[in-house]
Amino acid sequence: MSILSVQNVHKRFGGLRALNEVNLEVEAGTVHAIIGPNGAGKSTLLNCFVGRLEPDTGTVTFDGKSLLGLKPHEINQAGVSRVFQTPEIFGDLSLLENVMIPAFATRDGAFKMNAWRAVDSENSLHDKAMGMLADVGLAEKAGEIASHLSRGDKRRLELAMCLVQDPKLLLLDEPTAGMARADTNNTIDLMKRIAKRGITMVVIEHDMHVVFSLADRISVLAQGTVIAEDLPDGIKGNPKVQEAYLGGAHL
Ligand SMILES: Nc1ncnc2c1ncn2[C@@H]1O[C@H](COP(=O)(O)OP(=O)(O)O)[C@@H](O)[C@H]1O
Ligand SMILES: [Mg+2]
Repeated sequence: MSILSVQNVHKRFGGLRALNEVNLEVEAGTVHAIIGPNGAGKSTLLNCFVGRLEPDTGTVTFDGKSLLGLKPHEINQAGVSRVFQTPEIFGDLSLLENVMIPAFATRDGAFKMNAWRAVDSENSLHDKAMGMLADVGLAEKAGEIASHLSRGDKRRLELAMCLVQDPKLLLLDEPTAGMARADTNNTIDLMKRIAKRGITMVVIEHDMHVVFSLADRISVLAQGTVIAEDLPDGIKGNPKVQEAYLGGAHL
């Protein structure tokens, strides 16, 4: 069954057609990758799932409910979490505080939380946040200030901030961008563990090693249009994809 259903989505920026008749069905419990050249519309599409952009036409349905018109925090509360292309963390706070803030927000609602006063007293959320940091391999750095982290560690911290919210759907926009190979492989392992817990993931990714290590299905966007949607093996052998995505080179 689809947990996320996107039908006939169009999005223009002035004269530019960023998304053109996009359809996408993401099955619950799967990892669905979206690939395509730079400027294909991948981030624009993700922005339509999280309330940062509104499609001009079309529908976006999550868990049976329309996401259109909802505010980003309402979509988040419905169970959708996103790791952005540029890490969005609280640079002046410790790693533990970074993970506790979304934990409080999930428990109390975005506008009722008082993370500052409660940080020391909330043992269960503290333990949960520490567990998430351990999960992503950052437990030893829990007390460090987040701005000092490497790029790869910032990504992992952001993942912990998402996971602590117990999302049903995790959206990742180029989670391994700028990472060294060792960091990339650690991130692949982490994402495999997340997938095993049954969390549905939509992953935008440039690195084909990551895509083919993780994806159950792949959609290919080119110039705002879905030109292919298939199992990984079908995508590998698809001449249209090779042409559009890699200028004829083999995947
Ligand atoms: N807010 C915006 N205003 C105008 N044009 C935009 C905006 N966001 C993206 N675009 C344009 O839309 C196209 C798709 O961009 P994007 O979704 O970021 O592509 P991708 O993530 O696949 O690299 C690009 O041509 C980009 O320049
Ligand atoms: Mg992008």
